[in-house]
Amino acid sequence: MKHIHLRDLDVSRIGLGTMGMSHAYTGAGTDDDESVRTIHRALELGVTLIDTAEVYGPYINEELVGRALKGRRDQVVLATKFGLITHTGRQGGADSSPANIRAAVEGSLKRLGTDRIDLYYQHRVDPGTPIEETVGALAELVAEGKVRHIALSEAGPETIRRAHAVHPITAVQSEYSLFTRDPEARVLPVLRELGIGFVPFSPLGRGFLTGTIRSTEQFDRNDFRADNPRFAGENFQHNLALADQVAAIAAEIGVTPAQVALAWLLAQGDDIAPIPGTRRVARIEENVAADAVRLTGEQLAALSSLPPAAGDTHTEAQMRMMERG
Ligand SMILES: NC(=O)c1ccc[n+]([C@@H]2O[C@H](COP(=O)([O-])OP(=O)(O)OC[C@H]3O[C@@H](n4cnc5c(N)ncnc54)[C@H](OP(=O)(O)O)[C@@H]3O)[C@@H](O)[C@H]2O)c1
Repeated sequence: MKHIHLRDLDVSRIGLGTMGMSHAYTGAGTDDDESVRTIHRALELGVTLIDTAEVYGPYINEELVGRALKGRRDQVVLATKFGLITHTGRQGGADSSPANIRAAVEGSLKRLGTDRIDLYYQHRVDPGTPIEETVGALAELVAEGKVRHIALSEAGPETIRRAHAVHPITAVQSEYSLFTRDPEARVLPVLRELGIGFVPFSPLGRGFLTGTIRSTEQFDRNDFRADNPRFAGENFQHNLALADQVAAIAAEIGVTPAQVALAWLLAQGDDIAPIPGTRRVARIEENVAADAVRLTGEQLAALSSLPPAAGDTHTEAQMRMMERG
């Protein structure tokens, strides 16, 4: 597996997102043993970047990751996130106040069974706390050795600049895939100017780009995608046709659509490390093998010229928490 640098942090260029093992998707939490085997297999295959968050579950995903990494902690770059759960009694969505960060980090360290978090993300920008205060509190955790690197998720260019002026930001994590090209216009140029790495989340379009989702009937009622605009009505049909075009290129090469979606992302730069999510051993094997898939200039151009998916990637309320556009 090739490695890249997120600023000064060395990571395998394909990571593993563990959210779907406990949260958000159909079948989450139903087979923790297979989830643990998936994490172990990822490590065997050379994956070093493992991505979780306090809010996944909540809490149980970090516990699962902590169990899986027992005795293997030093093999990974362990990433988690704070800020979508408040421990301060504040009302409302995001809480990145210094007091909340102090409380959150202790819980995450305990659940993950570790004394340090390698990459600690603010999960969403908190309009109620100046980013300078948030990063100031994180810098103190770096000085104490509890956190090694500071990162942001779904932050816009201005927030990134202000944050980076307080303490170096190692990575930004936002949604990026053949379906969601938003970071290309404004975020990626700023990251490159400042030397910050980029971690695309939902690189498989939440499963859509793998060609295995043919109908929303296959989702549980509490599946995140069940009320997601991208998976509804006409949008769904439009997006299905796009996924079929990705599948056609995959068939031409003799690889899978998931591998094409990941190979396209990897071709976008040596500062990019996607974190596809799966809770199955066979799929981590498939996804990691995308490291060896080379797309021709013609195939890359055909994929890059696909229109973005129809429909927002989140519900309206969730979109308001992201600094997109
Ligand atoms: N920062 C943020 O706000 C944020 C938001 C969302 C996600 N994330 C992170 O990003 C990670 C990845 O994103 P994601 O899980 O939302 O979406 P994703 O990686 O685009 O897609 C995951 C979905 O695809 C399926 N899948 C994976 N590999 C497959 C393959 N080879 N063939 C067919 N289906 C496949 C998975 O099902 P199975 O599990 O059944 O294989 C799962 O339902 C998360 O785990 C999380 O760590 C971060």
